[in-house]
Parts: sequence; C-alpha cells; structure tokens
Amino acid sequence: MKEWYDSIKEAQSVDKLEEIRIAIFGKKGVLAVEFAKMKSASNEEKAQLAKDLNTYKSSLMNELTARKIILQTLELQELMKAQAIDVSLFSATSETGALHPVMETMDRIVEYFSAMNFSIKTGNMVEDDFNNFEALNLPKYHPARDMQDTFYFKDELLLRTHTSPVQIRTMMNTKPPIRMIAPGAVFRRDYDLTHTPMFHQVEGLLVDEEGKVSFANLKYILEDFLKYMFGDVKVRFRPSFFPFTEPSAEVDISCVFCKGEGCRVCSKTGWLEVLGCGIVDPNVFEAVKYENVSGYAFGLGVERFAMLIHQIGDLRALFEGDIKLLEQFQ
Ligand code: PHE
Repeated sequence: MKEWYDSIKEAQSVDKLEEIRIAIFGKKGVLAVEFAKMKSASNEEKAQLAKDLNTYKSSLMNELTARKIILQTLELQELMKAQAIDVSLFSATSETGALHPVMETMDRIVEYFSAMNFSIKTGNMVEDDFNNFEALNLPKYHPARDMQDTFYFKDELLLRTHTSPVQIRTMMNTKPPIRMIAPGAVFRRDYDLTHTPMFHQVEGLLVDEEGKVSFANLKYILEDFLKYMFGDVKVRFRPSFFPFTEPSAEVDISCVFCKGEGCRVCSKTGWLEVLGCGIVDPNVFEAVKYENVSGYAFGLGVERFAMLIHQIGDLRALFEGDIKLLEQFQ
C-alpha cells in the first residue's frame, strides 16, 4: 500500500491526482477491496484490521488534499504566466491619428481669440444672397461680386463665398456689443496652385458703442495675433478695398521663408499677405438695423496660414489625403 503515497507525491496534475483518488477511494478502489477482505477474518482480527485500514484511509486522504492544493496553485501560476500581457510591447496596430494641419491651425486661431474673449459662431454653409452679398454692401451687379466666383443653387441660394455672412447673421439676432469669430468652410469656383473650391476662413467681428472702436484697436489685436501665430515677424497694413469695411486694409507679415530678404514664395517682395480687415462700413450696420455703433472686422484663410506655418508649397497637398504628408504632423 505504500506505493499509493508515492503516486500521490509524484502526481503532476490535478487531473492525474483525481485518477489516483478514484483508484484508492472509488467504489472499486483498493480500499474497498481491502475492506471486503475483512469479511473472512476472525472477529479479533477484524477489529485490528478496521482500525489499521481507517488510519490508513485518513492519512491517504490528508496526503491527497495537501497535494491537490499544491498542484492547483502551480496550475494557476502557469495559467497566469501564459496569459500575462506585456504592456510595454510595441504593437503592429498602434498607429495613432493626428489632427489635419488645417484643423490644427484653425484650433490655434480659435484658441487665441477665445482667450481674448471672442465667442465662436458657425453660421450656414448654404447661404442666401442677402447674407452673403446684399447686407455686406454688395448690391446686385456690384463689380466687387466678381472678386468671388460663386456656386449658385436656384432661388437665390448659394454656397457661402466667405465667412462674412456670419457677421450679418450674428448682428441680426443679437444686440451689440459683439465680440465674435466665425471659423468655417467657404466655397469658390477656383482651382489652381493656390486655390481650391473649398477652403476655410476665420472671420472676426467686434462691435461696440459709437466712437469706442478704432482702427488702432484693430491694428493692435491683429499684430498681437500674428505674432502669436508666426512668432517674431514684422507686420504691415496696406490700404485696400472691401465693400463691407471702410477704411479697409490688407495685412502682410515679413516672409517666413526668407525672413524678408525676398524669395520665390514672396515674389521677391519680402512680404506675405495674410489677412483682410477694416472698420465696419456704415451700410452694413444699416442693413442689420444697428444704430450708434462702431466696429471692426477681419477675415483670413486658414489653409494659407497652415501652409506658411508648416512650409507647404502646394495648397492642393492639403486636400489629397496623402498619408505620407499627414504622418509628418503626428
Ligand atoms: N470676406 C473677405 C474675403 O473673403 C475678408 C474680409 C473679412 C475682409 C472681413 C475684411 C473684413 O476676402
């Protein structure tokens, strides 16, 4: 019977141990056979045999239970080892996305003006003639409408050609003072190295009591903003024309490629045009029925900013979804 102790000690798995348990304690197991032998023994012998067999039985049972606990623990450890995950391993599918450079640039612009307490308006991409042109002092047949080649639907509907209609929508449904920016997509019938039919602008509008808003205010904030976006650049304002502002200006920064020396990108001028702006034309305030107010407005092209910040040569590269280009912005 001694060999059963050895088998228990040598058992290498819980399953094997269970087989041994059945062989010892099962209905036809060795103990059952031994107990059956007692029948033919004398009464005296019986008492002694029963005592021995019972001692033997309980000690085998103890051995078995002890071994079972050890084997279960070992098997659990094996399982945990097999299922362990090395969180420091690289995975083939661990590529992360990144913001498109245009959206990243837009976020930065919005970040600046939010910090300056401008609220964010979105307006509509499908606009009507009134908001996109008429109210912005661009009556029908006004030659300045040709500045922006428009996609038309029927019934006076069109795809907005700039974000300036958001100025109108905002003034039509809020009382002054106003301090807003409008980031969003705009559409023009244009396609070449520097134009795509869809691009993004950020519009700005500030309106307060008459006499409170000056060109100096506009100049100050735009200079500060451009330095925030482009770092240490020179900024200059050039007189220009927009129907919805008077006076109007275009704003240049010193060329970020040649630092103002003159290169191919800035056409040897040393300057890059980045913004349109001006003092809100009284006709615009009249169209939205505002009285005794003054204000400034500005508008910029986000793609142009992104190209200058990231030194991208061809505007169309921003819209081709080329993964090689986009991966550089992770
Ligand atoms: N809406 C003008 C454009 O698209 C930009 C602009 C906005 C100019 C506001 C002045 C004031 O060209």
